Amino acid sequence: MPRVRVPAVLAVLFLMSACGGPGSDVPSAPLAPGERLFNSQCAGCHQKDGRGLGASVPSLIGVPVVAGPVDELVGWVLFGQRPAALPKGVFAGVMPQFQWMSDAEAAEVLTYMRGHFGNSYGAVSAEDVRRVRAARQ
Ligand code: HEC
Repeated sequence: MPRVRVPAVLAVLFLMSACGGPGSDVPSAPLAPGERLFNSQCAGCHQKDGRGLGASVPSLIGVPVVAGPVDELVGWVLFGQRPAALPKGVFAGVMPQFQWMSDAEAAEVLTYMRGHFGNSYGAVSAEDVRRVRAARQ
């Protein structure tokens, strides 16, 4: 029996995992930081492309609350503190509050939202989130 060289075995294993492995037909694309959280926590309403759902859920693309100020954005998403740029009663849906997110998680998901779907606003830092949280206590 011919000896199978270890590097050849490793190469085959690498190719199998790069192609999603046995049993998986969809190669997994790497996710941007915050994308997994956005898809699991926000996209159910705002959609994966941030366009929202008509009169029920607002679009996140190019709207003033997403653009900033960052403190108002964090106040809204984590604590439901309504910014002047989002008057009550315009959208039929109700958004849950996300104060359970860690500072780092909130920073990641908000940075993802501000840098995707055609948005190009600056990053939100964990320190921004910490500051807004601290100001409420
Ligand atoms: C259950 C549905 C739902 C989920 C989940 C949800 N939202 Fe919302 N979101 C809404 C609705 C409805 C509004 C408008 C609420 C209002 O005006 O009272 C809103 C408003 C917003 C706004 C303000 C938009 C504007 O036009 O000013 C931002 C920003 C936002 N959401 C971000 C997020 C982020 C980030 C997440 C995930 C961490 C999230 N939302 C999860 C339904 C949702």
